[in-house]
Amino acid sequence: VTIEPRVLRQFAETVGPSHVLTDADVVAGYAADFTGRFVGATPAVVRPADTEQVASVVAVCRSAGLPIVPQGGNTGLVGGGVPLAGEVLLSLRRIDEISDVDEVSGQLTAGAGASLATVQQRAAAAGWRYGVDMASRDSATIGGTVATNAGGLRVLRHGDTRAQVLGIEAVLGTGSTVSHLGGLIKDNTGYHLPSLLCGSEGTLGIVTAVRLRLVAPAVDPVVALVGLGSVAEAVTTAGHLRRQVHGCEAIELFVAEGLELVCRVAELPLPTARMHPAYLLVEVSGGEGASTALAAALDAAPGVGETAVATDAARAAQLWRYREAHTEAINSLGPPHKLDVTLPASALAEFMGVVGAAVHAVAPGSRTWLFGHAADGNVHVNVTGVPPDRDDVDDVVFELVSGYGGSISAEHGIGTAKRAWLHLNRSAAELDAFRGIKKALDPDAILNPNVLLSV
Ligand code: MLT
Ligand code: ZN
Repeated sequence: VTIEPRVLRQFAETVGPSHVLTDADVVAGYAADFTGRFVGATPAVVRPADTEQVASVVAVCRSAGLPIVPQGGNTGLVGGGVPLAGEVLLSLRRIDEISDVDEVSGQLTAGAGASLATVQQRAAAAGWRYGVDMASRDSATIGGTVATNAGGLRVLRHGDTRAQVLGIEAVLGTGSTVSHLGGLIKDNTGYHLPSLLCGSEGTLGIVTAVRLRLVAPAVDPVVALVGLGSVAEAVTTAGHLRRQVHGCEAIELFVAEGLELVCRVAELPLPTARMHPAYLLVEVSGGEGASTALAAALDAAPGVGETAVATDAARAAQLWRYREAHTEAINSLGPPHKLDVTLPASALAEFMGVVGAAVHAVAPGSRTWLFGHAADGNVHVNVTGVPPDRDDVDDVVFELVSGYGGSISAEHGIGTAKRAWLHLNRSAAELDAFRGIKKALDPDAILNPNVLLSV
């Protein structure tokens, strides 16, 4: 991929020469996703320091007709943040300032490049908590989590990323900057750009900062790892817990095959005396009252075989590790197909029972791994042992999901990976509306042109 020296000079004048990267070895790290399934190339990585510089880079690209892929921590899983068609890579990581922390209202402003972990730490230092959490917290950037409307481990309690964003600053594809970071809780003055840009996957604007609402800290959290007789019992138990235990923070799901892999790859002992077909990882906040309610609900729930409980932070982190280590354990088997789907609660167990065989029928050498967020009906179908471009594997899973009335993306987004199946979830009228919005905010289609919508 080539780029005119004149354009490189304009980039350098805007962001400083040391922040325009063209060395093949250096840019390669920005051009591949961390699973290794999506590998592209870019003529230049441009690293602006502030919103104004982002706007200037967009202006340069617009006049040169160069498409842009915005990137945060590069932890995305659908090929939406890597330059698969030779786009300019615009890295937001330098825009990482956290400011205007308001201890009274429980809000802060975060630059797009601030890591999720840093936002969590700054919130905690102010006596608050940020409501979104996920295993990639140290690398994932706030801008990326907003652009993809990331879900994670606490959607049950605090909602997705969209539910945290009170205000947004972004450079649109038109080149203009919208900034509305006042943080008023009630501000009913027309179209809500945070909602629109959140989850737009870099196709409408480049998020440079957000005003985030914070939540109250957890009170004496208790974590329980519960071994159950079947996925169906796990799903039923998750429903019981949601109704009977007020402080449920998270209800996560995994199964024996995944746990066996995690224990082997991460060199961890089995967390329970024996292996159970299904596991729920439950976290409740609320001290003694909540743990008593949790124990009572688990006593009454069907199929509970064994429970490991943590009341201190170190043991809680150990139990969480069995759930969080699934991603890296599966990755160790080679680039997986990561199919992040939601099912209606009533269909979740049946779907999980049949999806492996359906995949195996088209890809006999494959293995299917299942884990996810039980309370959200969100199961991660990870398929290993198939080449990255075997779309028939994705096809069979998405068709099955669609048949059950589910969604092809619960939290990772559409990216480039799932574009061909967006019609399974969106009507022709909805897609027309999407295209109209794209045209209005990014008329030259320079922002992530190969993401979300098929041109
Ligand atoms: C998770 O739930 O662990 C994340 O969505 C990451 C993944 O799917 O691997
Ligand atoms: Zn997830």
